[in-house]
Amino acid sequence: MSGLGRGKAILLGEHAVVYGVPAIAAGLRRGVVATARPGPQTVLRCAPWGTAHGTDSDEDLGRALRAVVDAHPRAPLPPLEIDATVELPAGAGLGCSAAIGVAVVRALDEAVGHEAPDAEVAERALAWERVFHGNPSGLDNTMAAHGGIAVYVKGTPLTHLDVRKPLRLVIGNTAEPSSTKEMVAMVARHRERDPDQFEANLRAIETLVRNARLAIEAGDVRAVGQLMDLNQALLSAWMLSTPSIEDLCAASREAGAAGAKLTGAGGGGCMIALVDSDEVAAAVIAAIEALGFEAFEAEAG
Ligand code: MEV
Repeated sequence: MSGLGRGKAILLGEHAVVYGVPAIAAGLRRGVVATARPGPQTVLRCAPWGTAHGTDSDEDLGRALRAVVDAHPRAPLPPLEIDATVELPAGAGLGCSAAIGVAVVRALDEAVGHEAPDAEVAERALAWERVFHGNPSGLDNTMAAHGGIAVYVKGTPLTHLDVRKPLRLVIGNTAEPSSTKEMVAMVARHRERDPDQFEANLRAIETLVRNARLAIEAGDVRAVGQLMDLNQALLSAWMLSTPSIEDLCAASREAGAAGAKLTGAGGGGCMIALVDSDEVAAAVIAAIEALGFEAFEAEAG
């Protein structure tokens, strides 16, 4: 009995998506696999972290587990031992917590013989995400359940894109820990301080996302990259970038990436670089590693 939750990379539109602006995201092949089997009590063990949380734990993973177990359509569930294998860095912008949530929801479903479409899995994993992020847009849990390359608008079904040319990403990890909750709260403070400027930024990001969708559908990788660069500049204006993110983006562009930006909450975590050939992918990975950071190529979608 096993369930899969995918990681995700946001190509454009993070943070603005919390305020109703569309975002474009790609599901990753890496993610979380969870299995559930009957046991003496309900517990979630996560490898490689070596953690174990029961539904009575007051830590985030325990509270999130309680949220999806109690709200299960077949509740009350029998006690289940859940083992999750996490292939994503935590707190790094790749949707790790949502991927665990989706994998756990699917593992629970399989263990009790409940068949659910992806949209229902995503919806139930939102209760999980709320424990971690307070005010999530729903993007991470939706992408973790569906995968693909898609436009997401808060509260509406996902629109998968007809991708003309595969989008290849190099993901660089600054290894700077970052809290999505804190970053989302910081952006909310920008909104309180200067609502007009904030609204102008949202409209600018919306335009970038709209154009990026057209460029993806037309297979114009260069244009997608330029739009990502512009999105990065707007995210920096909300103080979401860091010197390491800027260094990794600059090195990636210099090595031939079509564009580069932070991905997810920012304030640390991962950045993405869009590449269009094996040579450029290798050059970008080498450039990031030369700065002392980890990088890998991800199959987007
Ligand atoms: C986090 O992966 C993406 C944010 O836009 C938050 C959210 O959408 O809930 C920063």
